[in-house]
Amino acid sequence: MMKVWVLLLLVTVASAKTFTHCELARILKESWMSSYAGLNLANWVCLANAESEYKTNAINHNKDGSTDYGIFQINNRWWCSDGQFSSHNGCQISCSQLMTDNISDAIQCAKTIVSQQGISAWVGWNNHCKNKDVSQYIADCEV
Ligand SMILES: *[C@@H]1O[C@H](CO)[C@@H](O)[C@H](O)[C@H]1NC(C)=O
Repeated sequence: MMKVWVLLLLVTVASAKTFTHCELARILKESWMSSYAGLNLANWVCLANAESEYKTNAINHNKDGSTDYGIFQINNRWWCSDGQFSSHNGCQISCSQLMTDNISDAIQCAKTIVSQQGISAWVGWNNHCKNKDVSQYIADCEV
């Protein structure tokens, strides 16, 4: 029993990553997010901070019964599938793929969302980044 718990703990730790804001900024830049949909990099870093505090394994349950996954808190009712709903699954992806340390799938899905709905699809962006000076989120990063 003890061994099982130790193993589970290790697996949990190994599959969760918290990015620094500059690490994330660099990855987003490499993924052509510098000016995607007319939004500069700092908006995406601010969004990830507001939504997940840069944690790849973030999960939050919404009042409507849906669930948000990963660093960009992507919703299972509309964008990914976890079997809970007959999801619209706009990103054609399993929600678990949005929680891995390799965030390239999450970035692709975020691009899909922003191209269809704009960045205001994210409540965290509306509440913490919209009409704010977001430049501070990348000011000390060499990006
Ligand atoms: C991350 O995932 C993408 C797509 O799933 C893949 O193409 C890429 O090689 C992966 N990157 C690393 C560093 O494993």
